[in-house]
Amino acid sequence: MTTPAVDGLAERFDRDGFVVLDDVVSPEACIELARRADAIVAEQCGADGPMSVFTTDEQERHSDAQFLSSGDRIACFYEAEAFDADGTLVVPVDRAVNKIGHAMHDLDPVFVAFSRTPELARIARRLGLHNHVLWQSMFIFKHPLIGGEVAAHDDHTFLWTDPPSCVGFWFAIDDADVDNGALWVAPGAHRREPGRRFRRVSDDPADGTTFDEIGSPPDRDLQFVPLEVRRGGLAVLHGLLPHRSGPNRSERSRRAYTLHLIDPAADYPPDNWLQRTGLVATGFGDSR
Ligand code: FE2
Repeated sequence: MTTPAVDGLAERFDRDGFVVLDDVVSPEACIELARRADAIVAEQCGADGPMSVFTTDEQERHSDAQFLSSGDRIACFYEAEAFDADGTLVVPVDRAVNKIGHAMHDLDPVFVAFSRTPELARIARRLGLHNHVLWQSMFIFKHPLIGGEVAAHDDHTFLWTDPPSCVGFWFAIDDADVDNGALWVAPGAHRREPGRRFRRVSDDPADGTTFDEIGSPPDRDLQFVPLEVRRGGLAVLHGLLPHRSGPNRSERSRRAYTLHLIDPAADYPPDNWLQRTGLVATGFGDSR
């Protein structure tokens, strides 16, 4: 049973596949989260074993053990442009990190406090998300000048459930605009059939990952519009909504924090790339 929407938010989400809400989080909370992300980078990145490059180009996607084991821990992922042809880091580590993920919302006290608030629980209820649980978190740096683009995709491709249930909460930690790599979305395109699925090839992480092509790619014949979101604003994206972001060629950061939720009643296949083995997933209103 769905709760009647009193303000049309659920209707807009259903119609467009996204909503943007301003001033959901205070600027101070954004700054504190960014400071904690920087501290994690300083403490952990570069000393975390082999460096795993993040790219959404499926020809190059680097599905190493670091990536495939990151579902229930905090790991560092790097910009492709941070390395030269020999694989040597050519920028300082703190400028080379593309993102950290994927379980800060469960493991780090600052991230836990940011991710689990009565306000977020209220927004989820307004969207009709009564049972969804927090499955994955990412802090994305999109550094000035080096921050890479993210190719068009939908999140259901990567967090596949049957039926589709993935929803993304995207928080602007800095003002995000077209110059520093804002999100672009294809309004209404969440109504199309799933186009592809990213999964593990086998039980052995050494075999890596693959894409199953099922329908049209998410960039085919779609009109994308930019979502410019101010610091502290929130964009909520339906799991089937195609979206992308450009590179950051500006002098400004475009940091963002994302949470992806799924409905635990939906089937979550064992060959999805992200597996949580030791952590129970809970909702926005639940403490850790
Ligand atoms: Fe995404």
